[in-house]
Amino acid sequence: MNLWESRWQENRIGFHLNTVNRNLIQFSKQLLQHNPDRVFVPLCGKTLDLCWLSKNTEKVIGVELVNKAVQNFFVENNIPYLIEKEDNLQKFCSKSIEIYLGDFFDLNSEVTSLFNAIYDRASIVAIEKFERKKYVDHLISFLGSTGRILLITLEYDQNKMQGPPYSVSIEEIESLFSKCCSVKLLESCDILDERFRNKGLTHLLEHVFLIEKT
Ligand SMILES: C[S@@+](CC[C@H](N)C(=O)[O-])C[C@H]1O[C@@H](n2cnc3c(N)ncnc32)[C@H](O)[C@@H]1O
Repeated sequence: MNLWESRWQENRIGFHLNTVNRNLIQFSKQLLQHNPDRVFVPLCGKTLDLCWLSKNTEKVIGVELVNKAVQNFFVENNIPYLIEKEDNLQKFCSKSIEIYLGDFFDLNSEVTSLFNAIYDRASIVAIEKFERKKYVDHLISFLGSTGRILLITLEYDQNKMQGPPYSVSIEEIESLFSKCCSVKLLESCDILDERFRNKGLTHLLEHVFLIEKT
């Protein structure tokens, strides 16, 4: 069983929020400025952000590795769904939300077509450093010519806590995206709480970026 499968089976999903992410609400205007008809949510878990996005655009497409997360999303939100087979992946389909069940790296834009809006919260920080360039290059391959990404990272002293979530700095984001995108830091704030203080952290910065294809 891989790390994520066991985290979901053991309900170790502290990353899951019972409300819509406040940064998505606050910065959605920037993400949705050109009225994209579809939004892509990589490594989506069972986030309620999918529901919020589906009310503000025509279709939301997610991808998630763990079956339990996808099933729980539809069941807990009372959303009827069908399962289709597309390429080598299963796709859970409802009227306005579709989730591919499988590895993000096995999905490609020939299957999904391109997106002008991508939302990444707690996704890039779930990827180990050695795979982050591959993750970003793959993410960019889904981005249309006027595409935008709203991306949220966490930064902390990686010597004090093992990830995930991994620490991903402002400089790392700039270096990973700058070859074909502009990177604008929208907000940074310290969100250290009891849970992470107990793990030994003394600060936990959350950075919100708007990334645009240039
Ligand atoms: C930290 S959680 C964040 C979930 C969601 N973005 C949120 O805000 O709640 C990361 C999720 O990515 C999934 N995941 C990890 N690696 C993946 C991969 N290679 N392809 C698809 N999903 C993956 C995990 O199962 C987990 O649900």
